[in-house]
Amino acid sequence: MTDTSFQPRVFSGIQPSGDLHLGNYLGALKRFADAQNQGVESIYCMVDLHAITVWQDPRDLRHSTRELCAGFIASGIDPEKSILINQSQVPEHAQLAWIFNCVARIGWMNRMTQFKDKAGKNAEKASLGLYAYPSLMAADILVYHATHVPVGEDQKQHLELTRDIATKFNHDYGVDFFPITEPVIEGTATRVMSLRDGSKKMSKSDPSDMSRINLTDNADTIARKIRKAKTDAEPLPESIDGLDDRPEARNLVNIYAALTDRTQQQVIDEFAGKQFGQFKPALADIAVERMSPITTEMARLMDDPAEIDRILTRGATRAREITAPILRKTYDIVGMVGATA
Ligand code: AMP
Ligand code: TRP
Repeated sequence: MTDTSFQPRVFSGIQPSGDLHLGNYLGALKRFADAQNQGVESIYCMVDLHAITVWQDPRDLRHSTRELCAGFIASGIDPEKSILINQSQVPEHAQLAWIFNCVARIGWMNRMTQFKDKAGKNAEKASLGLYAYPSLMAADILVYHATHVPVGEDQKQHLELTRDIATKFNHDYGVDFFPITEPVIEGTATRVMSLRDGSKKMSKSDPSDMSRINLTDNADTIARKIRKAKTDAEPLPESIDGLDDRPEARNLVNIYAALTDRTQQQVIDEFAGKQFGQFKPALADIAVERMSPITTEMARLMDDPAEIDRILTRGATRAREITAPILRKTYDIVGMVGATA
């Protein structure tokens, strides 16, 4: 249930920890641009403090943060319309996270599947930051009183935790201060799958580069990866039900639908009965047509890293106009001396 007393505000974040891929674009960046263009106040964040929960070479981190910023802008996020920031330049994120570390319960954190996946078998050796990660994520969102958070399906559990933290804070302190944020997980591309295995998510950590389309791939590479994508021997079905048990076919249909802003049904209507020999070239064309301008624009922006840094510094100044008063008020609610809001 959305609390209507909070003005609508969108927040989302992406980790600057390696190459962006088609899953990030369709599941996140493109939808961020759509939200911005609907005129809702939006804040988009390169979550560098989250990235260091696992080891990052400092030079690579700096590069990835700038490249991610270029990716946001090239995907249509306008730094004048939206607020574009890197997390570490807005210290209120980390400050609120500490308060939330004292609100969230260890039992809640123990249920987080992303921690279990990332920590793997050797959880004792994982950083404390990786364990506390979801509490910082809740702070990212709630330090803006954000009401809506567009993400891919994998982030659903973290958003439920964010709601739990807001609810417990409001209850413990007898206030109605933090909104109960709505996850926005919609569209045909909330889960773009690997091009090599339709049961696995497209991911930057997949060892096979052929499994994903990177936002830095050129037109030839994009087309080759789609031509080589795993499929089955059947033609495309007459109805959506015919995609059941055909994860690779479903994935390519979903990608086509998301790239062209169409529904699965519209794509099926167009390609029913056709072989992949016909569908794949059409998909490759559309992918190149949509992705190439983004790739080119990212490269252009990366030629001037100083301008990217200026954009992020400006973003942080604007962001702090929102976050500083909310943090001050939080401190006041909690009973910190000197924090009268
Ligand atoms: P990550 O690359 O895991 O930091 O994710 C950044 C954003 O992209 C998050 O909103 C994810 O939910 C989204 N995302 C990552 N991989 C995929 C995928 N394969 N399909 C759809 N969305 C994705
Ligand atoms: N946890 C998200 C991911 O791994 C990134 C993230 C950090 C985020 N803070 C956020 C997403 C706040 C949405 C809102 O992709």
